[in-house]
Amino acid sequence: EETGKSGYDHFMLKEIHEQPRALRQCLRGRVDELGGTVELDELDEPPRPTAVQFVACGTSYHAALYGAQLFQDAGIPAQAFLASEYVTSPPPAGEALVVGVTQSGETADTLSALREAKGRGARTLALTNVVGSTVSRECDHVIYIRAGPEIGVAASKTFASQLAALNLFALATANGGDRDALGALRDLPSEVQAVIDDSTAAAVAEEYLDAEGYFFIGRGLNYPVALEGALKLKEITYRHAEGFAAGELKHGPLALVTENTPVIAIATGDDELARKTVGNVKEVEARNAPVIAVTDGQSDIERYADHVLPIPETHPRTAAVLANVQLQLFAYHTAARLGRSIDKPRNLAKSVTVE
Ligand code: G6P
Repeated sequence: EETGKSGYDHFMLKEIHEQPRALRQCLRGRVDELGGTVELDELDEPPRPTAVQFVACGTSYHAALYGAQLFQDAGIPAQAFLASEYVTSPPPAGEALVVGVTQSGETADTLSALREAKGRGARTLALTNVVGSTVSRECDHVIYIRAGPEIGVAASKTFASQLAALNLFALATANGGDRDALGALRDLPSEVQAVIDDSTAAAVAEEYLDAEGYFFIGRGLNYPVALEGALKLKEITYRHAEGFAAGELKHGPLALVTENTPVIAIATGDDELARKTVGNVKEVEARNAPVIAVTDGQSDIERYADHVLPIPETHPRTAAVLANVQLQLFAYHTAARLGRSIDKPRNLAKSVTVE
């Protein structure tokens, strides 16, 4: 097992570092940048859905929330559902393409939701890492994320590859000609490498080992990243963490914010979303909470932050992936300093085959 870790202390850290390679594998041969098109060989004929419903669990659900936004941006109605809730209260699915996002391809809740959708006459598509998995056999279409094997129970590189593959899927089926997004995807592996190489997340994590709790906030595509940052922290540190849509903080959770609850705020770009997130950060700063900003430096969030975890300026879609890398490293280093069982957290399994 030690050799398998290639000198890293944990598989999770190795897998975080493998993300540039995983992303290159995901993109290889699928993007024609000159032509501004995406080719997914697995799809004989790309489905042209009039609506998309995503079903997924855990980290994959966060990827699904991100994917739904990409389709909405392209003018195709799209929603993400927790797979376990889809089954208990399935929405009409006949006209929709129902997409199961599952790295293992074996999660019982997700398989059930897809079977339910199929029973209601919907076409189904699997977005998975595992060739030959149950989901790949049961769905009408499949897209592989090509992340390579992931040993750490807490998903890291498979999440990054899911986000990249969702971009390819959305570009192939909805808005094939977005050259800006294609260019950003091409540069993503090397930018992820740069974020890993320069990250100071270990030093920042060190300062908050005694925190009472951690809050993660973001808007738009950074909202699922905030949820994922909190989930990662919970899974591997056993500390209490919550992710919120930045605008929701003031509607309740703000009551929990104190000088002992760091708020990790993701603000990228200099648009309305970033400006509003900065406004929310001012509210927590006024309550003396430490603020850790994950930012590309385009907004003035740094003025209100105690620490900055920087990412390069890029397209909003790829900014979310880069921000997530900083959150992975923050969670990892917190867990490492606390001496946790990072690759096999208590009570958790890599793939859950019961409902
Ligand atoms: C388990 C794992 C999570 C994972 C979820 C969904 O709960 O511990 O890390 O996100 O299953 O897994 P899937 O294979 O469907 O992506």
